[in-house]
Amino acid sequence: DNPSTNVVNFKGFNFESTLDMELLENVDNFEIRDDDVFIITYPKSGTIWAQQILSLIYFEGHRNRMENLKTAYRVPFFEYRNHPMDIENRPSPHLFTSHIPYYLAPKGLKNKKTKIIYVYRNPKDVLVSYFYFTNWIMTFEPTDTMEHFMEKFLDGKVVGSLWFDHIRGWYEHKHDFNILFMMYEDMKKNFRSSVLKISRFLEKELSEEVVDAVMNQATFENMKSIPQANYTNIIENQCGMRHQEGQIMRKGTIGDWKHHLTVEQSERFDKIFQRKMKDFPLKFIWD
Ligand code: PPS
Repeated sequence: DNPSTNVVNFKGFNFESTLDMELLENVDNFEIRDDDVFIITYPKSGTIWAQQILSLIYFEGHRNRMENLKTAYRVPFFEYRNHPMDIENRPSPHLFTSHIPYYLAPKGLKNKKTKIIYVYRNPKDVLVSYFYFTNWIMTFEPTDTMEHFMEKFLDGKVVGSLWFDHIRGWYEHKHDFNILFMMYEDMKKNFRSSVLKISRFLEKELSEEVVDAVMNQATFENMKSIPQANYTNIIENQCGMRHQEGQIMRKGTIGDWKHHLTVEQSERFDKIFQRKMKDFPLKFIWD
């Protein structure tokens, strides 16, 4: 079973075909500034949620909806240059989003000043979210059944490669970076303290009102209804959708995998998880 046609493998990692190959080939020359901030995730782990939180923390105009700029352009993707903007010549701080593995990070990120927020999510929910996503977005190869997609996912034959390698890689090299690990489920269950944790890490003092505004505008329901945050427009224009009802803001819950994996699939997943994540210190929340 080959990786799907939209996948480009670069130095052992699967990217989408819109990858900026030249950038990655010269990644160590990319200018990193101390006040840059990177969101790094495995796909479907809460990337766009983190983008929205960062935009709301950094930009008053985003918070009070005085501006129309989409979150995707406030915190643009690093390795996918499909933005109608000059991301290098933006005013500082430069906020970026990325799915890169630790070993493809630009050297400048290792100066230990540049901040990285790594968001992770229980991989069964990642799997389910990803299955729906690939079947909805035109530039991804659809997969007929969950069974088949699970096979691809567990073989790392998807964009983002193997989930286990991504999180282990970043975690095991965390001392090389200034990195904060945020758990999607913890953000759901303890939203206020998560926003405060992120803002403290960013050395941003937020008033109570600002924290309230950030929380209010980064809820699933709100993001789903705000065109600046929900990506619908961007996906329509850049990737195309297979059917209307698909959306990035699909469910936004913990434990949706229970509605989509059979008992047998779930047990098979658990076995592999236990083997691969044995001794891994971060905890996961499954429901
Ligand atoms: S991507 O394509 O990799 O950038 O996708 P990503 O943003 O990482 O993941 C999409 C899932 O995140 C959910 N989401 C949220 N959950 C809770 N609260 C908020 N505000 C929120 N925003 C996005 C989104 O619904 C996708 O998960 P599923 O399970 O498919 O609903």
